[in-house]
Amino acid sequence: MGDDPASRVYVNNKKKACEAVGFMSEEYALPEHTSQEELLNLVNTLNKRDDINGILVQLPLPKHLDDKAVIEAIDPKKDVDAFHAVNVGKIMLGEYDFLPCTPAGVMEMLHSYNIEVSGKNCVVIGRSNIVGKPMAMLLLHENGTVTICHSRTRNLAEACAQADILVAAVGIPKFVKAHMVKEGAVVIDVGMDRDENGKLCGDVDFENVKDKCSFITPVPGGVGPMTIATLMKNTLKAAKLQNNVK
Ligand code: GUN
Repeated sequence: MGDDPASRVYVNNKKKACEAVGFMSEEYALPEHTSQEELLNLVNTLNKRDDINGILVQLPLPKHLDDKAVIEAIDPKKDVDAFHAVNVGKIMLGEYDFLPCTPAGVMEMLHSYNIEVSGKNCVVIGRSNIVGKPMAMLLLHENGTVTICHSRTRNLAEACAQADILVAAVGIPKFVKAHMVKEGAVVIDVGMDRDENGKLCGDVDFENVKDKCSFITPVPGGVGPMTIATLMKNTLKAAKLQNNVK
């Protein structure tokens, strides 16, 4: 919806990933002034189509639109972002069909580097529905001791400095500095920000922090591709579920 430059990049990357894995994808680039009703009509049409297994509405939406109502209009079986209340509820219960894309991508990275979560101090900075909250939940499911920090947290730097695994999802460029990081910590940067020169950067001041970490993810090229990989997995799962394929 509209012409958010970051959304443009994300949608292009998602389309490319579909092509790479052999999924058919359709893009509906709707103008900024599109009404709620028009958008809901499109979602309903896609809900009904048997040849469409996954639906994703790229956020943020223009201000005049109610993103909650739009997300709730998506058939939960086609909700490959796992944003619908039904899917969010299932994630809370640990019985999900679809993994939340960015948090699941982060967990996949931890698994593939054999980084144990159980018993570790995990600190998530940010409490968004897309990343912070589901990230905390997935870490909790793997027996992490999880703290969620946010804009009202007192002594945020001290809280972060206790983390064995620190996940930054605040949306503030280079927010995490060396004094907020414990020696040997695993630092995961979910940020997609722009620095003072307009260059893509993360929520972590990479150069300032990197020497203290046992592992650190870069931006770009860290979490972003993992988010998209999970989206592809979810879409395949949706297609299987809708066609009763094991
Ligand atoms: N905006 C930022 N991240 C995401 C995402 O993972 N999915 C959608 N639909 N919109 C986003």
